Amino acid sequence: MTTIFSIHIPETGSSFPCKPQESLLFGMVRLGRKGIPIGCRAGGCGVCKVKILSGTYTNGKMSRAHVTEEEEQNSFVLACRCQPSSDLAIEVVGKMRKNACAPLPSTTT
Ligand code: FES
Repeated sequence: MTTIFSIHIPETGSSFPCKPQESLLFGMVRLGRKGIPIGCRAGGCGVCKVKILSGTYTNGKMSRAHVTEEEEQNSFVLACRCQPSSDLAIEVVGKMRKNACAPLPSTTT
């Protein structure tokens, strides 16, 4: 059986699934929000910065230009360098915020 965690964005009430071996950024693409930039996917550009509000995770090396040591200690991570090890609640704080938190277009006509 494959473990799939639920990643919740309280600000918008939306959630997306993410496997333990996937990055949060990879999972975030499943939100289906137009224009979620993918960026460098390697911890170097900073567009995917998020704050982990609850849950456990592991993170890889991140550019100190985008996440300081102090921020890292306060649960800021780059989504492309972070894998969930439980369900998470996150706040999108990087340039991706505009797209990740934008209201969904109305489906009614
Ligand atoms: S996509 Fe560039 S730092 Fe995450």
